[in-house]
Amino acid sequence: MSFLWGTATSSYQIEGAVEEDGRGPSIWDTFSHTPGKVKGGDTGDVACDHYHRYLDDVRLLAELGVGAYRFSIAWPRVVPEPGVVNPKGLDFYKRLVDALLEAGIRPWPTLYHWDLPQYLEDAGGWPVRDTAHRFADYAEIVHDALGDRVSDWTTLNEPWCSSLLGYASGEHAPGRKEPGNAVRAVHHLLLGHGLAVPALSRNGGRVGITLNLAPVTPASQSRADLDAARRVDGVQNRLFLDPVLLGSYPADMVRDLSHLSDFSHVLDGDLEIVSRPIGMLGINYYTPALVAAGDPVADTPWIGAEDVRWVDGGRPRTTMGWEIDEQGLLELLVRITEDYPAVDLYITENGAAFADEVGQDGAVHDPARVDYLRRHISACEEAVRRGVPLKGYFAWSLMDNFEWAHGYGQRFGIVHVDFATQKRTPKDSARWYAGRIRQGGLG
Ligand code: FCB
Repeated sequence: MSFLWGTATSSYQIEGAVEEDGRGPSIWDTFSHTPGKVKGGDTGDVACDHYHRYLDDVRLLAELGVGAYRFSIAWPRVVPEPGVVNPKGLDFYKRLVDALLEAGIRPWPTLYHWDLPQYLEDAGGWPVRDTAHRFADYAEIVHDALGDRVSDWTTLNEPWCSSLLGYASGEHAPGRKEPGNAVRAVHHLLLGHGLAVPALSRNGGRVGITLNLAPVTPASQSRADLDAARRVDGVQNRLFLDPVLLGSYPADMVRDLSHLSDFSHVLDGDLEIVSRPIGMLGINYYTPALVAAGDPVADTPWIGAEDVRWVDGGRPRTTMGWEIDEQGLLELLVRITEDYPAVDLYITENGAAFADEVGQDGAVHDPARVDYLRRHISACEEAVRRGVPLKGYFAWSLMDNFEWAHGYGQRFGIVHVDFATQKRTPKDSARWYAGRIRQGGLG
C-alpha cells in the first residue's frame, strides 16, 4: 500500500444535530452546556452542521485528493440509551462511508473521540470497569453495521485526554478532579480498547489505537530536571504505550502513582487483553515538552508530576500557545521505532491553529499553517529515510471546528468555516496540501 494521505475530524467537533434522529446526550453536551466550562459558552449543538452537509464535505475531501478520511463515530448516536441500538444513528455513518467509498476515499473511523454517552458517566464513567465492557458491545454493533465496508478501525482517540483532562484536571468532560479515578480511567479505557480488538478484527479488519505522544526533554542535566522529564515522559507516553505494546505498566509509574492508586483495579489477565496484537499505532503530534522541576500545582493532568513546570523552548507558537517543532516529531517517531516492537505507524493528527480570516479577495491566506505542514511532513520524510515504518499522515483538521474547551476561537482547519453561514472556504494550506498529495512520495 502506498503512503496514505488524509485529513481528520471528530464527531462532536463537527456534526451538530445533537438531538436529531434519536441521538442521546454525551458528556460533552452536558459539559459544554455547563456555564464556565467552555470559552464563550460555545457548544457543539450546531458545530459545522456536518450531519446535514456531509456530502458537501466529502466533495471537499475529493477535491483535496486525499486517500483517506479519519472521522469518529458518536457512541450516543448508536447506543443512545442503555442496551438500545439506534438504526438511524448507524444509517448516518453508513451513508457517510458509502459517499467516501464512492469518491475513492478510504474511511478511517475512530470509535471513541471523547463523546461518552451521559448515562454511562452517570453510572460512574471510565473509572468504572463496566464502561470498558459497554465499549466492547458498542464496537461489536458498529462492526456489524459497517464491517463490510470499513477495514481500518481505531478504537480510542487520545486516552490521555479522556482520562487525565476528563478526570484529573477537569478541563474536559466530564470535568471531574479526582486523580485517583483518573488512574482507573486510564486502565478501563485501555481495557475497552483491548476488549474491542477481536470484534473489529473480523473480516480482516485492521485495528489500532491513537495516542497523543510527545518527546520530553529536561531543561538541564540536574537530577531534579532529569527526574521531571522521566515522570512527564511516563505520564505522556509510557503509561499508554507500555500496556498496549509491551503488556505491562511501567514500574516507575506504578511507584510514582502509588499515592493515588494501588492499581488493584488491574485484574489478572487484563494486560493480556490490553496488549492484544494491533495492526497499527496512530500518533497525534502537536508540540514537544521541555520540562524542569518546579512547585506543586493543583488540578493538573500531570499526575505523579504535579511539581513539574514547562519551560519555554524559544520557538514560535500557534494561537494555542503550542511551540512549533518538527524535530520533535522526528525524534518521537525514531524513539517509538527503537523502544517498541515493530508496528505500522500513522500520524493520525498534526496541525496548527492560527487566527485565519477570509480576506477582501475571498481567500484565506494562512502561510504559517503552510509552513507548519511543510516542516512536519519533511520530518516524516526524514523519519521514513531512517527506517521508521510510517505509512500515512492525516492533517488536523479538514475544517475549522469546535475546539473543545477553547470553543470556536481556535481554527485548526485547512478549510475555513464561517460559523454564521456554514460557508466552507479552502485556505491556501488546503491548496498546498492537495499539491503535496499529488507529488506523492514517502516510500
Ligand atoms: C487533539 C484532539 C483533536 C483536536 C486537536 C487539536 O488533542 O484529538 O480533537 O482537538 O487536539
